[in-house]
Amino acid sequence: MKGTFITFEGIEGSGKSTQIALLAEFVAASGTPVTVTREPGGTRIGDKIRGILLDPEHGALDPTAELLLYGASRAQHLKEIILPALRAGRLVLCDRFSDATLAYQGYGRGLDRETIRVLDGIVTAGLRPDRTILLDLDAGKGLARAKGRNALSGLEAEARFENEETAFHERVRQGYLALAQEEPRRFRLVNASLAPEQVQEAVRAAVADALSSG
Ligand code: TMP
Repeated sequence: MKGTFITFEGIEGSGKSTQIALLAEFVAASGTPVTVTREPGGTRIGDKIRGILLDPEHGALDPTAELLLYGASRAQHLKEIILPALRAGRLVLCDRFSDATLAYQGYGRGLDRETIRVLDGIVTAGLRPDRTILLDLDAGKGLARAKGRNALSGLEAEARFENEETAFHERVRQGYLALAQEEPRRFRLVNASLAPEQVQEAVRAAVADALSSG
C-alpha cells in the first residue's frame, strides 16, 4: 500500500475532530494529498449504520448486534474510501478504527476481545494503521466536553454513548491505554487536556516520522 494510514482514537470529548482538521490543513498546505474520514460512517451506507448505532432511542441494541454493525460500517468504509485512497498514495486521517471496537465493545461492554480481534481481522483483511494517535483525557472531563458540544450543535441524536455512565467511559479509557502499551511502535499517547494548539503541536510531532517514511 503506497499511502499512509493514520488513525485517531480517544474517549468522547477528547478533541479528535478538531485535531484531525488542524492536521489536515497543515499537511495539505505542504502539498500532501489527504483524505479525512471517520467511523462509524465515512460512506453513504456507513452513515445509515451510524444512525442506527448512535440513536439514543436504541438502548435495547444487543452488544453483539452493535459489534457486527461497527464491522459492517468498517467493511464498507475500507472498500469505498480507505483502500482506494491508500492505493492512490494519499495520506488517510481516520477518526476511529479497529482500536475503538476493542476499547468500546471489548473493554467497555465486556465482549470477548479475542472474538473481536478475529472478526476485525476478517473485516480489515489485516490492514493496520501505520500510526495511531491516542488523545488521552480524564473520562469525566471528556464527557462534560462532549455533552456541552452536543447541546450546542444539536448532536443529541447521536448521544447513545454519551448517555453511558462515567464508569463505562473510564473502562474505555483504560482499554485504550492497555492497547497503546501492547503496541508502543504504532501508538503515540497525546495529553488531550491541554489547549488545542498545544495538543496540535504534540500531534504533529507524533506523526512526523510516519509521514516522512510513508
Ligand atoms: P464519534 O462520536 O467519535 O464519531 O464516535 C461514535 C461513537 O461510536 C463513539 O461513542 C464511539 C463509538 N464506537 C464504538 O463503540 N465502536 C467502534 O468500533 C467505533 C468506530 C466507534
